[in-house]
Amino acid sequence: MPETAVATSSKASFRERAQPPVETVIQSLLRLPQLVKIHQPNNKLLAGNLDLFRKALLSMWEERRSFSLRAHRGRFYLDSQKIALPSGPVTVSAKKLMDQLEGQGYFGYLFTLKENLTNEDAVGFIRAVNQSAAQEKPGEWLKEKLAGAWAEPLVDPDFKIAVTYREAEGPGGRPLGRPMIINTGTRTLAVKARKSYSRAMAVFTAVENKLREGGAVSLAKSRRVVQEMVESLFMDERLLLNLSTIRDYDDYTCTHSVNVAILSMCLGRRLGLGRAAVATLGLSGLFHDLGKVDIPISLIRKTSRFTPEEYEEVKNHSLYSVARILQIHADHRFKCKLLQAPFEHHLGVDLGGYPNSDLNPPLSLFGRIVAIADHYDALTSSRSYRPVPMNPEQALDIMTSASGKSLDPLLLKVFINMVGIYPIGTLLVMDTKEVAMVAETPPDAIDARPLAYLMDRVGPDIVKGELVNLSDMDQNGKFLRNILRCFHPSDFGISASDILL
Ligand SMILES: [Fe+2]
Ligand SMILES: [Fe+2]
Repeated sequence: MPETAVATSSKASFRERAQPPVETVIQSLLRLPQLVKIHQPNNKLLAGNLDLFRKALLSMWEERRSFSLRAHRGRFYLDSQKIALPSGPVTVSAKKLMDQLEGQGYFGYLFTLKENLTNEDAVGFIRAVNQSAAQEKPGEWLKEKLAGAWAEPLVDPDFKIAVTYREAEGPGGRPLGRPMIINTGTRTLAVKARKSYSRAMAVFTAVENKLREGGAVSLAKSRRVVQEMVESLFMDERLLLNLSTIRDYDDYTCTHSVNVAILSMCLGRRLGLGRAAVATLGLSGLFHDLGKVDIPISLIRKTSRFTPEEYEEVKNHSLYSVARILQIHADHRFKCKLLQAPFEHHLGVDLGGYPNSDLNPPLSLFGRIVAIADHYDALTSSRSYRPVPMNPEQALDIMTSASGKSLDPLLLKVFINMVGIYPIGTLLVMDTKEVAMVAETPPDAIDARPLAYLMDRVGPDIVKGELVNLSDMDQNGKFLRNILRCFHPSDFGISASDILL
């Protein structure tokens, strides 16, 4: 995730550190409604908790006259800044509070400075929250009840997130140490695709864990989740494709297999495969590196060069994948359809890769497709030995140089056409000195020139600005903007998903 979090923890352990007031507020919002229900205001336990809540609010108001505390996509935000909560009881409370807020249909609270806030004021607010839970529309009821009060519910789903660049310098050498404000809204279809994507990650992680523990694994859940993705893909290819290219780069092991499955399925669909074949291809892609569970984790995470012996061991993962797929409980004939791509994905169309085999070219179609998806995702991800991922342009350059050797030239052309030379989320620096983020590449784009959001500067902030078409020309037929360089958003600590989804 981007480096946008409000720091709430130090390196000290949970016991040792003083709890930041925002964490006390979160825990109080979960705890107090229960305490108020069962205790009189003079009860010691309740009074102690009310004191903590009141003091935490007063301490927050020392820095700002009002602040909002909002749940958004599984995180809490203090105004527009993401709050980094330490793992442990606070995170558990935060998750429970988020579930409660979601159940009641509003998003959090706005707290405005009230001088001399008393415990009675706090009890009044908590009682209103408790009463609202029994109403048909708790958020709207509470909004009306608390209109103009020091604490009000947040009922508007739209809000702004601030993203602070990690690097001191931005694209083109410009100083970018300022927050960028992004308008977000609810996008139902994207949210659905996001859910499929998370489910696929959860299912794959469960398969890996079961295999590591030596447990029996069935194919049923993986088939279901891949089928779900196939349906999404046949409705709108971009939803999942964008999720695989706009990605959070700090969880490689978890996302790589799902991304390879998605990119393979999208390419398969572009090639005209039907639903059933695309689903089989997706499962093949999902399991292409399954054999890595048999490689020591120290090797997988190694940041320096492999010794020759270590490299030989890593190369075995294709064969281990085949062996692991055979262990999965499923119909034998169906399992056989999943084996070729994992076996062939590092072999290369010239058979110059590994494992050594007596195969004759050409490789299977699934093997050639998964190899391309695997290359692209691996190059554009951060890895233990290459923490900064390549930008898509560099990745596609490298893949083009492997065309005809390790990668199939025709399929590669279709793939580049599919992801675009400037995939969604890429940051572009233009000859107009503007910086923009690629939103999409329309089919009629000239020279693959995409649509992109300008990253404007308004006051002290950089904001997501106007959507411009880079194919637009002036009356003399000259392009209004030309791309000078492209960057990976993570170069600047930005998550494209925060901006575009
Ligand atoms: Fe691999
Ligand atoms: Fe891979």
